[in-house]
Amino acid sequence: MTDTAIAWDTYSRQRPERRPVNSRGETTWFNWTQYEDHGPNAELLDVAPGARVLDLGCGKAGNAAHLAALGMHAVGVDVSPKQLTAARARWSELPGLELHQAEAVQFLQQAREFDAVYSVFGALWFTDPARLLPAIRARLRPGGRLVFSQRPPVEGCYGCQASYIPRGSDEDPLVVKRWDYERDAWKQLLAEHGFGDVRAEVLAAPPGRRTVGTLIVSARA
Ligand SMILES: C[S@@+](CC[C@H](N)C(=O)[O-])C[C@H]1O[C@@H](n2cnc3c(N)ncnc32)[C@H](O)[C@@H]1O
Repeated sequence: MTDTAIAWDTYSRQRPERRPVNSRGETTWFNWTQYEDHGPNAELLDVAPGARVLDLGCGKAGNAAHLAALGMHAVGVDVSPKQLTAARARWSELPGLELHQAEAVQFLQQAREFDAVYSVFGALWFTDPARLLPAIRARLRPGGRLVFSQRPPVEGCYGCQASYIPRGSDEDPLVVKRWDYERDAWKQLLAEHGFGDVRAEVLAAPPGRRTVGTLIVSARA
């Protein structure tokens, strides 16, 4: 296994499962943000039932499962075997959901075309956009949407940053790389890679003690 897969397997063990139902009593739902019951829904993807939609870094696949429940063909890709084991354990009965263990760029290089591609705090945050954006552009149908969400950057900390995944108290944390940019830098990067209709907003955190919002970026091929 690669160091990246080992790091994300470690992360997977620390992350709880998605709740059985949300505050509206729904068994599947889409969540773009780090907060429960917060933010927009799947309409950001601008796709209808029957569409082929790709989740890059799907994790335990709660969002992809929601799209499958809406009648889409949802393809989830994740580098972590443990994340996918959890995803399969929970969603294997759901028709329309396809899961692959793969690194995002490698998967895209051999994939068919998609009507939309998205990533929620996922591979788009943790892969050099100079590698990933051309690979997505090549597999997104003309007019199809790319949408991704992640934490906004810390002011002054741009480009490749270190993310630490804690382990036991007598072990060093594992490190994965992530790429942080302000909204205007994302707009420029996406335009440079041939995307149009680029929008980037920071959605405020819900009322409470936590204040970090969610950067949500969308563009069209
Ligand atoms: C913070 S988790 C988010 C998971 C999920 N999208 C969610 O919202 O719960 C990041 C996920 O991206 C996956 N990931 C990171 N880099 C990746 C890559 N280059 N290719 C595929 N998956 C990747 C990790 O294994 C992990 O499951």
